[in-house]
Amino acid sequence: MDSFVIDARRLRADFPILSQKHLTGNRLIYLDNAATAQKPSRVIQSLLNFFHLKNANIHRGVHWLSQEATRLYEGARAEVARFIGAASEREVIFVRGATEGINLIAQGLRRVYFQPGDEIVVTVAEHHANIVPWHLVAQELPLSLKPVPLTCEGGFDQEAFKQALSSRTRLVAVTAMSNVLGIEVPVKEVADLARRAGVPILVDACQAVVHHPLNVQEWGVDFVVFSGHKLYGPTGIGVVYLRHPWGEKLPPYQGGGDMIRWVKWNESAYAPVPSKFEAGTPPIAEAIALAEAIRYIEEEVGWDFIQAYEKYLTDYAQESLQSVPGITLYGTARPKGAIWSFSIEGIHPHDIGTFLDQMGIAVRVGHHCAQPLMEWLGVPATIRASLAFYNLPEEIDALAASLKEAVRFFSFTASQS
Ligand code: ALA
Repeated sequence: MDSFVIDARRLRADFPILSQKHLTGNRLIYLDNAATAQKPSRVIQSLLNFFHLKNANIHRGVHWLSQEATRLYEGARAEVARFIGAASEREVIFVRGATEGINLIAQGLRRVYFQPGDEIVVTVAEHHANIVPWHLVAQELPLSLKPVPLTCEGGFDQEAFKQALSSRTRLVAVTAMSNVLGIEVPVKEVADLARRAGVPILVDACQAVVHHPLNVQEWGVDFVVFSGHKLYGPTGIGVVYLRHPWGEKLPPYQGGGDMIRWVKWNESAYAPVPSKFEAGTPPIAEAIALAEAIRYIEEEVGWDFIQAYEKYLTDYAQESLQSVPGITLYGTARPKGAIWSFSIEGIHPHDIGTFLDQMGIAVRVGHHCAQPLMEWLGVPATIRASLAFYNLPEEIDALAASLKEAVRFFSFTASQS
């Protein structure tokens, strides 16, 4: 493992933000990567280069700069298509983020696919972004969500999933990796079951895409969404994969410039996919920088390293955290990504979060945009440490030591009151 840690130390140098100190003067320990990952210099430089040298609107200009910007933007689409194993770049739509992506699909399906009374099978571990867009649909066209529980270790429950499928099921919409627990859903198996049930499957790949390579054709899925900012890219860019012919079947999500073939006063005809779904000026620089993030991951970090080292960090964190008195770890089932959610008996997660912040340690506390999962776990909130390939074992040691100190501090405070 020592060689992994040496590599991780070297890679940290690519992330300027990680070398700064916390406000308190403590070393900054960033363990909130599931909320957003830090950006390597290559990605930051890509954004700067675009605005320094290439900025123009795309698809609209005969002039050189516009054509350069268009070439880079469409090149980014081709890079993303290759990265996720899409059959064609026309299956890749750029949006602002995964949330917009699910809304695009949900509103499209509402207009051409769902019938009153339909059910959507989800897991109890869904992010609000894979719950609320369906509620918006349900306001206009009665349909319901059918949540599949997890196993007692917080893993995916295949039997429960099979039982949830029925003649009313019209869509399966699941996360590939819980943003709270890190547990993985076996997407390929779930997609097989959905196919046998004759329904399409949507996958929220926001967390999964960060921790291991994925291939949408091997998965055999219809819709995939993820955000660029968790994948070491910028905010404001997300990806929707629409397996052909869904792009043809779904109506546009928004209307405006660049998504039309022609416009008259009383009607308009739409451009072919993917332009049909990209009304207005898209996040051009951000899409190009996302492609740079992908190249950085593949060329300079490597999936073999990410998978092996993050597994080591996940095991290391489990062992360290288990030594904290009063701790409960949620989602111990494997396989899982490098995300640990936990609570400490008698201390509110927000108090722990504030205490850790004073030590220079950034974690997320709260419901993590997954209130139904909190309800299922029977807790109001958790503390979440989410790791990236640039985190180090000593940062996990610091987390565990600070948690022990927090336990002592809050026990002492409680004994004085
Ligand atoms: N979805 C992000 C998280 O889990 C924001 O923190």
